[in-house]
Amino acid sequence: MIGREQDISAIRAYFDTAGVRGGALLVSGDAGVGKTAVLDRLAVQVNGALGLRAAGAQFGSEINHSTLNQLLFPLGD
Ligand SMILES: Nc1ncnc2c1ncn2[C@@H]1O[C@H](COP(=O)(O)OP(=O)(O)O)[C@@H](O)[C@H]1O
Ligand SMILES: [Mg+2]
Repeated sequence: MIGREQDISAIRAYFDTAGVRGGALLVSGDAGVGKTAVLDRLAVQVNGALGLRAAGAQFGSEINHSTLNQLLFPLGD
């Protein structure tokens, strides 16, 4: 990962606060700018928390709550 140290530490700082108070963070940018790569990196490195991820996709747009289902599926047990 090249040149994203500032973004990664900003998001990490957000997780430190959100773990206590909750919250939401929007990561936005043009396609291909590296949003998913940064989140993948954090998913590996943020320890002590259960990470759940989901991605909206065109084929799911006709299915009710498809992304919510994807997000919560790992908690089925
Ligand atoms: N800072 C970076 N260093 C190295 N590779 C990167 C970086 N940012 C993006 N990439 C690579 O560029 C491609 C597109 O990035 P991606 O995270 O899928 O973009 P986005 O999710 O914003 O559309 C991926 O192959 C990713 O690994
Ligand atoms: Mg992406």
